Amino acid sequence: MPTVYLNGDFLPLDEARVSVLDRGFLFGDGVYEVIPVYSRRPFRLHEHLQRLQHSLDGIRLANPHSEAEWVTLVQRLAAEAEWPDQGIYLQVTRGPAPRDHAFPAEVRPTVFLMPMPLKPPAPALVASGVCAITATDDRWLHCDVKAISLLANVLLRQLSVDAGCAETILIRDGRLTEGSTSNVFIVSGGVILTPPKSQLMLPGVTYDVVLELARKHDLPHAVREISEAELRAADEIWLTSTPKEVLAVTTLDGRPVGDGRPGPVFRRMHAAYQAYKTAVMHGA
Ligand code: PDD
Repeated sequence: MPTVYLNGDFLPLDEARVSVLDRGFLFGDGVYEVIPVYSRRPFRLHEHLQRLQHSLDGIRLANPHSEAEWVTLVQRLAAEAEWPDQGIYLQVTRGPAPRDHAFPAEVRPTVFLMPMPLKPPAPALVASGVCAITATDDRWLHCDVKAISLLANVLLRQLSVDAGCAETILIRDGRLTEGSTSNVFIVSGGVILTPPKSQLMLPGVTYDVVLELARKHDLPHAVREISEAELRAADEIWLTSTPKEVLAVTTLDGRPVGDGRPGPVFRRMHAAYQAYKTAVMHGA
């Protein structure tokens, strides 16, 4: 039973309790992060904590901890968990209060952190790629806030589960936004393309790493709007997220992407990502 953190206490997961009046439970009124830890070293922790701040600002909730306090909490859980590679789930809600949509006068936020095992995609999946389907992005207009109210994402993700696929790729007004649980890149004519950050997508930490690696390795790339037609005609499609890292989509809506196998640009990026991760694991 992993040790988790709840409101000042470290305790076994099955002893952690929150009130049914918690606004996270009643309204989905909270935000979260999933922070990867490799060989017990948090990966891009500062960037995850910056995004947490952006999400807290987006829901007008004061950050209950300084960055140094968050780092201490994450490091303690990372050191104690049984798995060397973890995703630390971190959630802040507006706390327990009598049910009323309006913010409570006095807020005592609920802070919860829990380590989860983190396994990168199996080598066979990296080699074969995965299938994805498309769906209309019918989420709200603040997708840059990493809100715990994930019902729209849950329903969209389930569409691809029902189709036996790894992800649902979302289209809003004829443009690619992201996946239900990941960001999306395409390769067209040798150029890596991805949509610009906006309120219509989550600013992925992995997305930033992939763009940095494209720059570092001189891989042609551009950040710009991508039409649905460009997505469907792409030579390669990639998903990026903390658990997926970089994963090739080789079938979209039942049709092969490119020649139906992970492409050459994907293979370069995947290798660059693994090398970068290994360097971070060894303290670079
Ligand atoms: N989700 N877009 C959405 C909608 C996501 O839910 C995620 C990640 C991403 C990728 O973000 P990052 O590269 O920072 O992991 C993009 C996490 C892993 C989750 O909800 O479990």
